[in-house]
Amino acid sequence: MKKIGVIGSINADLHMRVPRFAQPGETLKGSAFSFFPGGKGANQAVAAARLGGEVYLAGCLGADPFGRTISESLSAAGVHCQAVEVQQDLPTGTAMIQVDDSGQNAICIVSGANDGVTPLFLRRVQAIVDTCDILLFQLEVPMEALLYAVKEYRRRGKQIILDPAPAEPLHNELLRQVDILTPNETELRQLTGIDVVDDASRLAACRALFERGVGAVLHKAGAQGAYLYDSGGLRHFPTYEVKVVDTTAAGDAFNGGLAHALARELPIDSAVEFANLVGAISTTALGAQSAMPTLAETEKMAQILHLKGR
Ligand code: RIB
Repeated sequence: MKKIGVIGSINADLHMRVPRFAQPGETLKGSAFSFFPGGKGANQAVAAARLGGEVYLAGCLGADPFGRTISESLSAAGVHCQAVEVQQDLPTGTAMIQVDDSGQNAICIVSGANDGVTPLFLRRVQAIVDTCDILLFQLEVPMEALLYAVKEYRRRGKQIILDPAPAEPLHNELLRQVDILTPNETELRQLTGIDVVDDASRLAACRALFERGVGAVLHKAGAQGAYLYDSGGLRHFPTYEVKVVDTTAAGDAFNGGLAHALARELPIDSAVEFANLVGAISTTALGAQSAMPTLAETEKMAQILHLKGR
């Protein structure tokens, strides 16, 4: 099996259950508060590791209680943490997450120690990351470091999967180094200026990104599943119907599942189907890393859905 590396964020998720999202100037009563280990990078690493992948995370934590707790839970999930550094002068990154009664979420983040992911840090951990074959990136670490790492590891022949989240404009210089780009609807709009409202606008947005130089656009469309645009055109992969509790990190579960399937050298279409399944299962439990399924849980769910006709 190929090895997976993740260069990305690690956050403490401060998670509130609310009846609906608070409006400006409003104080709203929630029903529950929890702390969960999160951060898009760490979530994707845990997703792939819980499925049985050999996963190495490169990222930074603060020298605080959040950092210590998260470090323990990453190791317990089976993530190799030799490239996780503690920043003495920065707090662990944090995310304030509201989850409403339908399971949708709204998230604000403060980078904190994630800003320690610099080109200098990346040079320190290079020997570890270089042992990996598939590399996962997101946009919660400084852009300078992302550009450096994507270019460097693409040159070294690694497969580059970039989750362009949270949404921000990206240069073609970066996009040209990416094998698989995995935008959700908001990110697709931000990157192309096209509102995805129907099949025609989805095709136009995916094609526009493909023409900017990425190897394949894998659009995560939530309850509609995923759409893959590559040299073979646009293909739809419907997702699975499950009882949604919390959609936080469903996109991260998808990317972790995708990486795991590619590490097992499944063809891309099967890898996308597997990623859909892992993403769907993650919405059935609360939190980010706490909701990532094991391979046994994923296979069991696949059987149940298969028996139900999907
Ligand atoms: O994708 C979900 C993640 O986004 C959360 O875990 C939060 O930490 C933010 O990074």
